[in-house]
Amino acid sequence: MLVSAKEMLNKAREGKYAVGQFNINNLEWTKAILLTAQENNSPVILGVSEGAGKYMCGYKTVVGMVKGMIEELGITIPVALHLDHGSFDGAKACIEAGFSSVMFDGSHYPIEENIAKTKELVATCNELGLSLEAEVGSIGGEEDGVVGAGECADPDECKSIADLGVTMLAAGIGNIHGKYPENWAGLSFETLEAVKNKVGDMPLVLHGGTGIPEDMIKKAISLGVAKINVNTECQLAFQEATRKYIEAGKDQEGKGFDPRKLLAPGFEAIKATVKEKMELFGSINKA
Ligand code: 13P
Repeated sequence: MLVSAKEMLNKAREGKYAVGQFNINNLEWTKAILLTAQENNSPVILGVSEGAGKYMCGYKTVVGMVKGMIEELGITIPVALHLDHGSFDGAKACIEAGFSSVMFDGSHYPIEENIAKTKELVATCNELGLSLEAEVGSIGGEEDGVVGAGECADPDECKSIADLGVTMLAAGIGNIHGKYPENWAGLSFETLEAVKNKVGDMPLVLHGGTGIPEDMIKKAISLGVAKINVNTECQLAFQEATRKYIEAGKDQEGKGFDPRKLLAPGFEAIKATVKEKMELFGSINKA
C-alpha cells in the first residue's frame, strides 16, 4: 500500500535519521529501489519528476506499476509515491492519478504567489490524507529541464510557507542537483539553522543528495533534515554498469543483447547505491 510521507518523516526527524527519496525512471529502477528498501527494512520515497512521469506513459501508469510491484513483490515497508519538483497543474494531476505525496515547487514564483498556490494544495492534500512538500529558495543546477540558480532560502519566507501546514519543506541552502563543482562553497549550515529556528519541528528536505560529503549529510540530519533526495548517483551507477556490460560484449550470437540481461548489471548497481545511501542516512531497520 502507498502511504503519505508524513508519519515516516516525523519519525525520522524525531529519531535523527533521514528517509531517502530515490527518483525512478523505469521498471528496473523502481524494482531495484523497492527491493532494496524491503531487504533493509527501510521506509522509502519514490520520486517522479514530471519528465520521468511523461517518459513512463503518464502518472496513472506510474501508480499502476508501483502498486502492482508492491503487491507482487510482497513489499511491506512504508512506500510513498511522490511527485518531485511539481508544477501546480502537475501536482493536481498526480493527486488525481493516485500519488500518495506531491511536491509543489513554487520557488520561482514571487513569494505571495508561492504562498497562494501552496495554500490551495495544502487544503486538497489534507482532505485526502496526502503529504505535501513545498520549496523556498531554489536548488541550484538543472534537473529534467528545471534550472535553478541555487539561492539560499529566506528563513522568514520559510516560516510563511511552513505555517500553511505543509508536511515538509525544501529550503535552498547552497545545494545543487547533479555533481557539485570543484569550487562549491558547501552547504550553508547558517541558513539551515536559521530556517530550523523559524519552522520548529517541520521535517526539512535536502535536494541534490548526490556528492554531498558524509559529514555534511550527518550535520544536516542533526539540524532537522529528514528527507534526502538522490537521483544523479543512481543514474551514474546505472550507466557505468551498463557500459561495462556492453564493452564486455555479452551479446547473443546473431540476436544482439538480451534486454533483460543488458539491464541486470545496472539494476544491481542501483541496489548497491540505494543501500549505501540508506546506511548513510540511517534509515535501515526503521520501517
Ligand atoms: P541529485 O540528482 O543531485 O541526486 O538530486 C536529486 C534531487 O534533488 C531530486 O529532487
